[in-house]
Amino acid sequence: MTEPARIISAESDANLNEAAEILRAGGIVAFPTETVYGLGADALNAKAVARVFEVKKRPSFDPLIVHVQSPEEALRLWHQPPKIAEALIKKFWPGPLTLVCQKTSLVPDIVTAGLPTVAIRMPSNLLAQKLIKNLGSPIAAPSANLFGYTSATTAQAVAEDFGDSIDLILDGGAASIGIESTVIKIENNQCFLLRPGGICLEEIEKIVPVMVQKIASLQVISSPGQLESHYAPWTPLAVIEKDFRDFLKEVEDYHARCLEKEIAWPRLGLILFRPKSSTHLFESVEVLSASGDSREAASKIFHVLRKLDKMNLDFIVADRIEETGLGLAIMDRLGKAASGHQKIKCYFENLIR
Ligand code: TXA
Ligand code: MG
Repeated sequence: MTEPARIISAESDANLNEAAEILRAGGIVAFPTETVYGLGADALNAKAVARVFEVKKRPSFDPLIVHVQSPEEALRLWHQPPKIAEALIKKFWPGPLTLVCQKTSLVPDIVTAGLPTVAIRMPSNLLAQKLIKNLGSPIAAPSANLFGYTSATTAQAVAEDFGDSIDLILDGGAASIGIESTVIKIENNQCFLLRPGGICLEEIEKIVPVMVQKIASLQVISSPGQLESHYAPWTPLAVIEKDFRDFLKEVEDYHARCLEKEIAWPRLGLILFRPKSSTHLFESVEVLSASGDSREAASKIFHVLRKLDKMNLDFIVADRIEETGLGLAIMDRLGKAASGHQKIKCYFENLIR
């Protein structure tokens, strides 16, 4: 049994100094960013970074993002960054855009899992910026969740996953964006989308064209965030594939069959992007936005997944949102959280059989 984690406020300068001190000594500190919480170590200290992989139970082939407090700091870690990188930085930094370019020898190999490239972003969260400044070194950090599990958007969620296996958690309140950064790789002056995220593809494409590859067409997985199963709660989850009203009709039908056969009706969770009626057959209904706003939905999705996962439900189903703007990143996360689980129809057919 792990002991409770130590959580202190990131709003105090003394606390930020203490956190920087711990990082300087090779420790691990979870810290707030505008996207999700990060599990940070001094990026230039290979031994400290190794501990991040260990406590996160992350496979060593999955590289980390390096967080910097200025574009200049990034330019020192990249080898001859292309002009496109500078244009994107000018427009989107600080903020949820991670850029992958060739690395210099300053970056330890363990950070990049041996790849010749390094992913870097400058967070817009001022507390994160202060922490990096206080340390005087970039911070390597994956999302602060156990590998494969739902990301953490609050200090309490980080504590649930790690207890005292990390040295400190800085509490900066709920993450404002709530979904990870967009990851773009720049190669031969071309941009490739490795992960949709907090900066919309449409916004980036106003500046440069971006190649979007589907995982099936990739020879090798160039970003392990592309692994099919990821971001997943323990409770089985499925995404509704049809029109919501047709789906409800199907559920009502299964309910009638359960009654007839005297089968106990399962405890179901439902995630909606806007309010809908006739959802009484669900034990718990979470509406991500009263107005169907994707920004609001993104800020709540991981919190809601963790909340439902604690309710001992039999199955969680999630409705869809249009895959434009932040909707693309939201559906990417839901699709990966559902991957490897039964489809809704299979679940009910097995129940009734
Ligand atoms: O918003 C975020 O990006 C958060 C906060 C903490 O900054 N971080 C985050 O880190 O989501 P993580 O480790 O959960 O996801 C990083 C993603 C992974 O999919 C990883 O494979 C990819 O970035 N990545 C990192 N370095 C890479 C590289 N050199 N080449 C390709 N992909 C890379
Ligand atoms: Mg992650």
